[in-house]
Amino acid sequence: MPSNLKLSRRTERVTGSLIRDILQLTQKPGVISFAGGLPAEQSMPALAFDALADGHRQYGPSEGEPSLRESIAARLGALGIDADAAQVLVTSGSQQGIDLVGKLFVDEGSTVVLEAPTYLATIQALKVYGAEFHGLPLTADGIDPDALRHAIMERRPAFAYLIPTFQNPSGACYGTEVRREVARVLDETGVPLVEDDPYRDVAFEACERTPICAYLKRTPWIYLGSFSKITAPGLRIGYLASSPVLFPWLVRLKQASDLHTNRIGQAWLAHFLESAEFDTHLERLTGLYRERRDTMQESLQRHFGGLAHWQAPAGGLFFWVRLLHERDTLALLQTALKHDVAFMPGDPFFPGAEHRYPALRLNFSHSDPTRIEQGIAVLGQLMQTGEPETHSGFAPPTCSSLAAG
Ligand SMILES: Cc1ncc(COP(=O)(O)O)c(C=O)c1O
Repeated sequence: MPSNLKLSRRTERVTGSLIRDILQLTQKPGVISFAGGLPAEQSMPALAFDALADGHRQYGPSEGEPSLRESIAARLGALGIDADAAQVLVTSGSQQGIDLVGKLFVDEGSTVVLEAPTYLATIQALKVYGAEFHGLPLTADGIDPDALRHAIMERRPAFAYLIPTFQNPSGACYGTEVRREVARVLDETGVPLVEDDPYRDVAFEACERTPICAYLKRTPWIYLGSFSKITAPGLRIGYLASSPVLFPWLVRLKQASDLHTNRIGQAWLAHFLESAEFDTHLERLTGLYRERRDTMQESLQRHFGGLAHWQAPAGGLFFWVRLLHERDTLALLQTALKHDVAFMPGDPFFPGAEHRYPALRLNFSHSDPTRIEQGIAVLGQLMQTGEPETHSGFAPPTCSSLAAG
């Protein structure tokens, strides 16, 4: 780097993306990737923009297209969230919502309470602003509300960031009582909630999905949603809704960031959500992923028995496979990549060393059933023997960094 180049102190906290490194490698034909949270290509709707471009070529409102905001507000109302269209901000993916949350709440040294493990790109995004993390261990039923209360008393966090429905990476779905209790603790302590809910519509079985934001009575909240997992992530359209007290700040921060989200995509999405096609699309998508989830479950039973614990998720895109014995999962990834199989090691999902245990996150939406079986068989064999028999000749990533996805 040139000696006269002076970057901000913030850049010292910027980490790269392990999953972006891995995704690069998985572009190679033949690689079976369980790494990213990628939807299946065949699950994505056709995008016809021509008829919608007229009237949407010009700059538009920062808050988003009115028709899309109305449609989102109606959906949130049906979930019990008290927000009208004036409290909905369309974002360039919910990842932008996470970044805006960082800008809104985090100063150097601010504490954020979150699940351990949690979505690794949230760790990455909030670290840039100087956040410190207090991780709460997760069970299949969610976090322990008493542990949340204790953490709040001890650390006085800027906010709590939770993914209560089909959590990434664990697949956990909080039970009704836990949701209510968490809301009670946050209301009593006045700590704002940031609820991230990108997987709620990818549901395979009936289970509790009421947003915790719907139970809150007093404390400020931000609810983050995404269309990436149910339409096409390349559209880059997500949204947030928030308490009125936070909303004007979020709009200004969005304006400073990118003026507004792409209008033509928003117009297409508003039309698609209101069409009869949308429900059929969602049914087809969940049917496809349910089959892949079931295939992965059977493959894991065949090849991972005695090596790990896991639960078939009721929704979302991932199996979280907890290894029974200590294992260097980054080294395992490097070996697996030589066999053209990719997965996400568990370590980067933990916000700190405490509560950490060896695990693999395996995505099941992107690969067809035959390749799921092949890939899990390879991983199971590597778990047993540890050594590759063939070498495909492409270099594994340096694994020095965190990830998005
Ligand atoms: C928990 C969570 N939040 C946010 C995102 C970002 O989604 P988007 O594509 O809407 O930016 C993801 C993507 O994988 C995610 O898993």
